Amino acid sequence: MSALDTGPPVSVPPRAAHHTVTPVMRSQVRALEPTLARICSYHLGFTDEHGAPSGTDGGKLTRAGLMLTAADGLGLRPQDVRCQAAALELLHNSTLIHDDIIDTDELRRGRPAAWKVFGAGPAILAGDALQALALRMVVDDPGPGRVAVSAVFAEATELVLAGQARELTVRLGPGTGVAEYDRIVTEKTSALLECALVTPAVRAGGPAPVVAALRGAGRHLGLAFQILNDVEDIWGDPAVTGKPVRSDIERRNPSFPVLAALTAGGPAAARLDRLWHADDTSAAHVAEIVALVEESGGRRTAEERSRGHLDAALEHLARAELSPPATAGLTALFHRIVHRKPAA
Ligand code: IPE
Ligand code: IPE
Ligand code: MG
Repeated sequence: MSALDTGPPVSVPPRAAHHTVTPVMRSQVRALEPTLARICSYHLGFTDEHGAPSGTDGGKLTRAGLMLTAADGLGLRPQDVRCQAAALELLHNSTLIHDDIIDTDELRRGRPAAWKVFGAGPAILAGDALQALALRMVVDDPGPGRVAVSAVFAEATELVLAGQARELTVRLGPGTGVAEYDRIVTEKTSALLECALVTPAVRAGGPAPVVAALRGAGRHLGLAFQILNDVEDIWGDPAVTGKPVRSDIERRNPSFPVLAALTAGGPAAARLDRLWHADDTSAAHVAEIVALVEESGGRRTAEERSRGHLDAALEHLARAELSPPATAGLTALFHRIVHRKPAA
């Protein structure tokens, strides 16, 4: 029995979320067309590249943890949102499969990305299959708020796609405001975190101010998380993140530390602007960009801004007036998500 099924309302750390949603994810993915099932099972860490069982890390399940804890805080039981929490993790994973193709990143969770193992074509289809599966699970699940919850999921999916598309077209420079960055991240990253927090409120028939407060919490949590994710892309350890280092810089992806450095003014920012816009991905060029970002205060500004968004997320959370244990649990989860602490 998981910690969710017994005792007073408690926070839901990712390991408890694992017991609740992983069996649902496994059985749903197993029922896909065999090629798609194999790719999805590999990406989710259920199997290795040959289809044999594997005990590898399938992700932190933080979106499921958020949903289950918020549900607890609204008087719902884990089983009231189990299907939705599993569906949200599948939807999130569909975006990761596609994101690695878009970013040409070869490593995910410390293993070769799905497209490296199976090819981009099959991986695109596997991502599509997970997205369709997630939406169907939500549409098919009976219970209160079914139509409204389905709309929340559809809207979140549309927002992620919009943010991913916007990220491909925006070019960072001193003229690119923080507002543009915030818009991309609110779409590509916050949307699924908002979906996690809002779904239980919609299912519980929560009043509009509670829904709005949880939406605000998810929005700021996404910004706090993505800004530190950008910091990690530059200064993180691949052994910890399981992802390649400095790929945002190589591809000149919008990244908050770079944006902050470019807009800081001064000679280092001016030189950074020239290097950033030069068509050079050599290790020496990237290393000089990184040094200039640091020298211009880009890392410090990013860390401060992430902290500010985390504080704002917690203020919105307090306004939702969930039960005190759930608020405490979500507070701990917010910190863990932003600072990438291991599962409790
Ligand atoms: C990675 O999210 C994608 C971003 C939004 C930065 P997670 O770090 O939550 O992904 P998991 O834990 O591997 O599923
Ligand atoms: C995160 O994109 C958002 C989505 C996957 C939709 P990133 O490209 O910033 O995330 P990582 O670093 O690959 O996990
Ligand atoms: Mg990426």
